[in-house]
Amino acid sequence: MWSFRIIYWLHFNIMRNSLDMMRRERTLLVVLLLILLHHVSATKDHQQHRCPPSSCGYITNITYPFRLQDDPDNCGDERYELGCKNNVTVLYLHSAQYHVQAINYNNYTVRVVDPALQLHNCSSLPLRSLSRSNFSDTYTYRMGPYQAGLDSDQNWGSLSFEHIVFLNCNHSVRENGKYVESNECVKWDSKGYAYAVGGDLKAEDIEVGCYVKLVAPTSFSTFNKHSYAAIHSALAYGFEISWVNLACQNHCHKDLCSFNSFSQKLDCDPLYGALYINFVHFSC
Ligand SMILES: *[C@@H]1O[C@H](CO)[C@@H](O)[C@H](O)[C@H]1NC(C)=O
Ligand SMILES: *[C@@H]1O[C@H](CO)[C@@H](O)[C@H](O)[C@H]1NC(C)=O
Ligand SMILES: *[C@@H]1O[C@H](CO)[C@@H](O)[C@H](O)[C@H]1NC(C)=O
Ligand SMILES: *[C@@H]1O[C@H](CO)[C@@H](O)[C@H](O)[C@H]1NC(C)=O
Ligand SMILES: *[C@@H]1O[C@H](CO)[C@@H](O)[C@H](O)[C@H]1NC(C)=O
Ligand SMILES: *[C@@H]1O[C@H](CO)[C@@H](O)[C@H](O)[C@H]1NC(C)=O
Repeated sequence: MWSFRIIYWLHFNIMRNSLDMMRRERTLLVVLLLILLHHVSATKDHQQHRCPPSSCGYITNITYPFRLQDDPDNCGDERYELGCKNNVTVLYLHSAQYHVQAINYNNYTVRVVDPALQLHNCSSLPLRSLSRSNFSDTYTYRMGPYQAGLDSDQNWGSLSFEHIVFLNCNHSVRENGKYVESNECVKWDSKGYAYAVGGDLKAEDIEVGCYVKLVAPTSFSTFNKHSYAAIHSALAYGFEISWVNLACQNHCHKDLCSFNSFSQKLDCDPLYGALYINFVHFSC
């Protein structure tokens, strides 16, 4: 409104002044109009991806960066498009489908579960292996829409899930306390002994004659690692992946960015940003 009044005033003045003055002020008017238009379009651009939340099943708060497949084109970010199948919200990850259990906008995580896992059926297993090595943030530099942790600096200690490793052995390894027998629920072949191990499996933990059959993530933080029933429930709870890299791009631009789990906010470190820019300059 106010900007229009200025323009109006300018216009009024132009009419009253000499031709010479008029040319000069016309230039000023054009500049003012351009500034105004730029301001309007910048505001529009910022709001463009923010639409009212969409809903599918019990996930009722689907909003930026997510979009639901039938949302208007301008909503959310297409890299974070979710499906809605039979009232279940579906997330696409490495060309596999996962069921969305919860979206946490305050810590930039989404909890998903493999669609084959059934809570009350301990024989059900994930369709595909998934571990931190499937996420680009742990091996290559910042690619892909989802990260396996909340630290955009590829910190291996900041994983948002831990692993369950399924093994098949040609002999009994009952003496190793980490190996939990799963034969009652999961069997890989009639002769073998089937086990699951909760938490990370170091190379020295792999017994001779045992082979890894499947690796699956869980973000259920406290479960009894000596009970297969508990391990299965933890798997059925699902695992969290994050969009912290996108959040960081939007929030800190070129600065180093990390999620502060105490304040539950992103911290930007401008010093690193400056160093980064210098580095780029020097290397050119
Ligand atoms: C979808 O899920 C919501 C929430 O659980 C429920 O209210 C609704 O009745 C369901 N719709 C169908 C078609 O099953
Ligand atoms: C949905 O998420 C947005 C973004 O974080 C938040 O502002 C809003 O309060 C949430 N709404 C509900 C109903 O949880
Ligand atoms: C339990 O899961 C197994 C493996 O996916 C499947 O073969 C079996 O039919 C399921 N049982 C029930 C009762 O759904
Ligand atoms: C994860 O990587 C493993 C090993 O490369 C592969 O077998 C598996 O299919 C991948 N999982 C997904 C969901 O892409
Ligand atoms: C993110 O927030 C959810 C809901 O408050 C919580 O359950 C989860 O543990 C948090 N995840 C991380 C990695 O902080
Ligand atoms: C199990 O496999 C290992 C390695 O292949 C072999 O050395 C061992 O003799 C086998 N044990 C049994 C009981 O078959």
